[in-house]
Amino acid sequence: MAVIENSKVTIVGAGSVGASTAYAALIRGSARHVALYDIATAKVDAEVLDLAHGTQFTGRSDITGGSDISVAEGSHVIVITAGAKQDPGQTRIDLAAVNAGILHRMLPDLLGVAPNAIYVIVTNPCDVLTVRAQHETGLPPERIFASGTVLDTSRLRWKLAQRAGVSTSSVHAYIVGEHGDTEFPLWSRATIGTVPIREWQAAGHPPMTQTELDEIAVDVRDAAYKVIQGKGATNYAIGLSSARIIEAILGDEHAVMPVSTVLRDFHGVDGVALSVPSIVSASGATPVRETTFSDDELALFQRSAAAIHDVARTLP
Ligand code: LAC
Repeated sequence: MAVIENSKVTIVGAGSVGASTAYAALIRGSARHVALYDIATAKVDAEVLDLAHGTQFTGRSDITGGSDISVAEGSHVIVITAGAKQDPGQTRIDLAAVNAGILHRMLPDLLGVAPNAIYVIVTNPCDVLTVRAQHETGLPPERIFASGTVLDTSRLRWKLAQRAGVSTSSVHAYIVGEHGDTEFPLWSRATIGTVPIREWQAAGHPPMTQTELDEIAVDVRDAAYKVIQGKGATNYAIGLSSARIIEAILGDEHAVMPVSTVLRDFHGVDGVALSVPSIVSASGATPVRETTFSDDELALFQRSAAAIHDVARTLP
């Protein structure tokens, strides 16, 4: 539960990701006050009402919201989910221009009512949008960052946990880089308990080969495409991931999570937002500089940086 007294989060965008984030935050008690903001009045009012009707069964959190920007006033955290979503066959990067425009129009108003908040960007392509938003707002990189590969990391841990026959919380592994097609696992640092991933032997199974690990990495990378193909969007897991980030901030947890910040000379990457293990606390997110990569991973990291850089450059 939140350490900041009367903690408030505003979730911007009442689409399926925003509503699922609010739902997860209420159930988890991620903040004392949860607000939902959207310009579509009927939609946001209905989502708020529906969520409010369930608060007998949640913790102490309450839910408010609407289409007036004042609903975000006094927020400690602003989570941005507004924007176009991927259609089947689209990549996250395909959304860059339209969602950069939406963010550009929205940020000044949000900063007006919540000048001291930590800003978490969930809208895709979240790394590209974070570069832009950090630049446009002039906020320090620790105060405006993306949910990045927190979700992808959860997907990875779930798969590895299943294969290894352990709980997800015993899998220590991270997806880093772009939240998208160039992301990759830091296999060189992945362990189950303290056992390096390639040495782990689940009962009745041989250790995982590099081929198997590569297949798992591809599965995780393409996981959202699969969900979008089947149901048109992803919402529950990103909602839970976002709620988890909210509580790490409001609880001043100093939790290590792979969020995406604009990096400053991190393994040769500068001025591009990518996910790396970062300390998330009430002051925002700071990359863990001691994180080491193998030579192969360094090359993949550069490739991810180039992908984000190339798209960010094309935006007006
Ligand atoms: C996903 C969306 C949030 O990976 O990008 O599910």
